[in-house]
Amino acid sequence: MPFVGRERELRTLEQLYEAGTFQMPVIYGRRRVGKTSLINKFIEDKPAVVFTARESSARENLVALSQAITGLSQDDSLAALDAPAPVFESFDAAFEQVFRVARTRRVVFVIDEYPYLGRVIVRFRRCSKRKSMAKRAKADSASFSADRP
Ligand SMILES: Nc1ncnc2c1ncn2[C@@H]1O[C@H](COP(=O)(O)OP(=O)(O)OP(=O)(O)O)[C@@H](O)[C@H]1O
Ligand SMILES: [Mg+2]
Repeated sequence: MPFVGRERELRTLEQLYEAGTFQMPVIYGRRRVGKTSLINKFIEDKPAVVFTARESSARENLVALSQAITGLSQDDSLAALDAPAPVFESFDAAFEQVFRVARTRRVVFVIDEYPYLGRVIVRFRRCSKRKSMAKRAKADSASFSADRP
């Protein structure tokens, strides 16, 4: 079915796009109301990276996000090699890469199905914090025992 209506929403998004500064519109609404279709229509003629979060693990989301982002900075010769995309070490590092690219050119970064991502990011952060605390505790105890005669 061809895209119809949504003129007001498209106009709002265009205005934000033309603002020339960082903008983060949140599009929400009940299921099947047309959020993804609106986004797709909006980015039809624009440089965009689309990441659709999945109802799965943090790791799987990070891999998929990394794949989506890699296309941003990869030149065609690298893309032609069909090399697997590197996986960012954290969600923060992945987002930082988008911000870096966006400093030099305008780009639309879409996160669709955001609630799936929000859920795993919180768990991922807690988990990495626990891991780094455990690592530190282990390092502390190692240095403690090394200090003993
Ligand atoms: N403006 C539009 N013109 C024509 N068809 C549309 C329009 N918006 C949505 N549709 C149709 O309605 C259906 C649902 O749209 P869409 O997938 O964009 O909704 P959604 O809000 O993203 O749904 P979900 O919450 O499940 O992600 C699709 O079949 C799509 O083609
Ligand atoms: Mg959708």
